[in-house]
Amino acid sequence: MSDPVVIMKQEVGKAAASRVKSDSIVGLGTGSTTAYAIQYIGERLQSGDLKNIVGVTTSFQAEVLARKYHIPLSTLDVVDRIDIAIDGADEVDPQKNLIKGGGAAHTQEKIVDSLAEQFIVVVDGGKLVDKLGSTFLLPVEVIPKAVVPVMRKLEQLGGKPELRMGVKKAGPVVTDQGNLVIDVKYDSIDDPATLEKTINNIPGVLENGLFVGVTDVVLVGEIIDNKPVVREL
Ligand code: A5P
Repeated sequence: MSDPVVIMKQEVGKAAASRVKSDSIVGLGTGSTTAYAIQYIGERLQSGDLKNIVGVTTSFQAEVLARKYHIPLSTLDVVDRIDIAIDGADEVDPQKNLIKGGGAAHTQEKIVDSLAEQFIVVVDGGKLVDKLGSTFLLPVEVIPKAVVPVMRKLEQLGGKPELRMGVKKAGPVVTDQGNLVIDVKYDSIDDPATLEKTINNIPGVLENGLFVGVTDVVLVGEIIDNKPVVREL
């Protein structure tokens, strides 16, 4: 059997893509799981199973993939609604609240996903947690000039902040908007709704990766008895 995580991601991406209906405006998320959803939406379009789809992307990565799979694109200043958005997550709690931003795309993701009539989250089973913050650091996008005072403030709020550094690139990760990302370790996030607002209220912060009350549906890919299964949370 190939890598089970890849299989879970493929199956859950396919399941989400199969929920897209013709004549809709689709928010296209970011990350390795959503990439499969984008691929399958493109394949359904090419086969004629799906017609008249317009995508609105959440990142440079999503845009490149949408073009690769021939999905027509538009932007938020042109479309008047998003019918359905599909996006991945780094953690999902039992209330369907999320931590996102592992790919540093959470700011655009939050704009598009929050606007969607229906927001579908696609994850593999390893992303489900009882409490947010238990396995993943909370990403915070910050204007470069504000990094030091924002890190100080995040520490005062009980977090352990670190500037996200690039891989195969010297220096920090730079977001699609030209900003930096601070990842914050919390022992546990007891009140995600309050923490989301408190962090976003620090001058210099653009957006943090807590998505509270945004999700409509969570599709979880799992391997049971050696077979991939997708269940709705
Ligand atoms: C991008 O910034 C993130 O919010 C992704 O959606 C999230 O990290 C999930 O990505 P994977 O599907 O690659 O795990």
